[in-house]
Amino acid sequence: MKFFIDTANLAHIREANELGILDGVTTNPSLMAKEGIKGEENILKHYADICDIVDGDVSAEVLSTDFSSMIEEGKKLAAIHKNIVVKVPMTKDGIKAIKWFTDNGIRTNCTLIFSAGQAILAAKAGAAYVSPFIGRIDDSSWDGIQLIEQISNIYAIQGYKTEILAASIRNALHIVRSAEAGADICTCPLDSILGLLKHPLTDIGLAKFIEDAKKM
Ligand code: E4P
Repeated sequence: MKFFIDTANLAHIREANELGILDGVTTNPSLMAKEGIKGEENILKHYADICDIVDGDVSAEVLSTDFSSMIEEGKKLAAIHKNIVVKVPMTKDGIKAIKWFTDNGIRTNCTLIFSAGQAILAAKAGAAYVSPFIGRIDDSSWDGIQLIEQISNIYAIQGYKTEILAASIRNALHIVRSAEAGADICTCPLDSILGLLKHPLTDIGLAKFIEDAKKM
C-alpha cells in the first residue's frame, strides 16, 4: 500500500517526506483554506511548491462545480506539473469531466465517494483514483472499512484499473485496516502516520537496551 499525506501544510509534507516513505499528497479546499492559501496565483504556486518537495502524485481539487469550468480549471492545474492529479467531486458534471480528462490524458482522483455504486461509476469514467471517505462514513455510524473491502472486491472482479485511495483517515488503526481491506493507497494526516510508530513495549524495550548498553 502506498502512503500519501493528506494536508496542504508544507512543513508536514516535508516531515513526512523526510521519513522516506511518502508516495504522494492529497489536498482539498478545506485543507488549502486552513493554510491561508487564497487567490488563483497563490493556489497554483502552492501546488507547485508541493510538487517540488514530493516526488509523487499530488491531488489538486477543482473548485468549480459545472462541467465547462471544471475542464478549464483542471487544465490549468494539470499544467502545473506532470505529477498533478485533478481531483473532481462525485457529481453528474464531475463524472462527465473525469471522462473528458481521461480521454485527454489528464489523470483524475474522484473525491467524496460514499458508496460502491459511486466507485463503479468513477472507474467506468476512467478515474485514476477513487477516494472513499472512511472517517466520515464511520462518523455517520456506517463502516468505512467495509466500503473499502466492497470496492476492492468489485474492482478485482471487474478488472477495473482505478486505484482505491482510502481518505478521511482519523487514526493509525484506520491505516492498518485500510491495508487489510485492500486499499491501494492510504492518505493520512501526519499524526496518523506517526501514530504507526508508537507502541509502549517498544519504548520500554528501548529504555532497557539503552540502560544495558551502558554496562557493555
Ligand atoms: C482527501 O482526499 C480528503 O479530502 C480528506 O481525506 C478528507 O478528510 P476529512 O474527512 O478528515 O475532512
